Amino acid sequence: MAVPTEVLWERDPHTDAKHKLLRRYLDAWFPIMAKQFRDVGITFFDGFAGPGEYTNSQVSSPAIAMAQSLRSDVAGGGTPIRLVFIEQDRRRAQHLENLLEARFPQSIRPRNVVTRVHHGACTDLYERAIDEVGGWTGPVFANLDGWGVDADYEIVQRIAQHSSSEVLVTFEDQFFIRFPDGPQRAGERVFGHSDWRGVGQQLTANKSPHILDLYRQGLREAGFAYVLTFDLVDEGGHSLRLFFGTTHHVAVGKFKDAMWEVDYIAGQRFRDPRDPNQLSLDILEPDLTPLKESILRLLKERGHSMAELRSHALLETIFREPQVADAVNSLREERRVEWRTPAGANAVRMLHLAPESLF
Ligand SMILES: C[S@@+](CC[C@H](N)C(=O)[O-])C[C@H]1O[C@@H](n2cnc3c(N)ncnc32)[C@H](O)[C@@H]1O
Repeated sequence: MAVPTEVLWERDPHTDAKHKLLRRYLDAWFPIMAKQFRDVGITFFDGFAGPGEYTNSQVSSPAIAMAQSLRSDVAGGGTPIRLVFIEQDRRRAQHLENLLEARFPQSIRPRNVVTRVHHGACTDLYERAIDEVGGWTGPVFANLDGWGVDADYEIVQRIAQHSSSEVLVTFEDQFFIRFPDGPQRAGERVFGHSDWRGVGQQLTANKSPHILDLYRQGLREAGFAYVLTFDLVDEGGHSLRLFFGTTHHVAVGKFKDAMWEVDYIAGQRFRDPRDPNQLSLDILEPDLTPLKESILRLLKERGHSMAELRSHALLETIFREPQVADAVNSLREERRVEWRTPAGANAVRMLHLAPESLF
């Protein structure tokens, strides 16, 4: 998609998928965090907020966050809830301010819900904008949804170092692949170093995995123990990636629930139905093959309990914990694994590779 210059522009199907993912995750994040951080409060930070609506839709990240924050099980408990929006385009920032007032007037907002719209560049303003509402006293969820090349590493690092905080970053790998020698400093700002330019020396087929790995590694080094990626593919087959970084394994499970709701088959990508290159999705069940293969690889070393397999699925694969039972059942039906219960009163049954047999 070309970068729009008007105040409002049309929402693409892949942006719709991004919004579904965000709404589904915030649906869990707001009530859980509001309950857990009742004293210090919680902050939703939208660093590239946009105008708050599209020519064809009223859904946007600010509108989703506002609606979630006003729920009775979120704001009702009295937890300080802060929503901080930054938008660089003055017209869009003004549009957002007016829209929030019209759709969520001050008169209906509880006193513990504080909202601010700032006009300016995210990197210049974020520290002060969050500070001004006391946001650094509690966890921050940072939505860094720019044009895919503008979420500075400095911000990601700051959020990662801040206790119980998370980022959702929109990332366009193709931009960095196309311009590894360019004079622009976008890459240095996004990656925090100039090693990313090494992508120019990679074979064509390796460029995208290389740059995605590099970014994933950067999020880990910033301090996020867990990083998940979700692909958004537009009608031209161009990819935008969403990177989710968190320090908590419960958040991994919640974010995966959201990913699987948007992409029921594979849990990791949404493709625009107008993309002519995509395969038709004639599979009606989630494809558990990669999970089954990953379990078989694990069992080559030793037997594993169900709890261990669930934890492996959650933290090391794209799959959700509840899908482990289906994968194990399928492997048992294929006679590739078997349960064994060691002797002893409190012995836990362990899954092992089944002995090879001819029939
Ligand atoms: C993809 S749109 C955001 C969409 C919005 N998050 C939503 O879900 O509706 C990106 C927005 O970031 C703004 N923007 C671009 N560079 C920026 C910067 N450095 N700081 C703050 N906003 C920026 C653009 O004007 C644009 O409105």
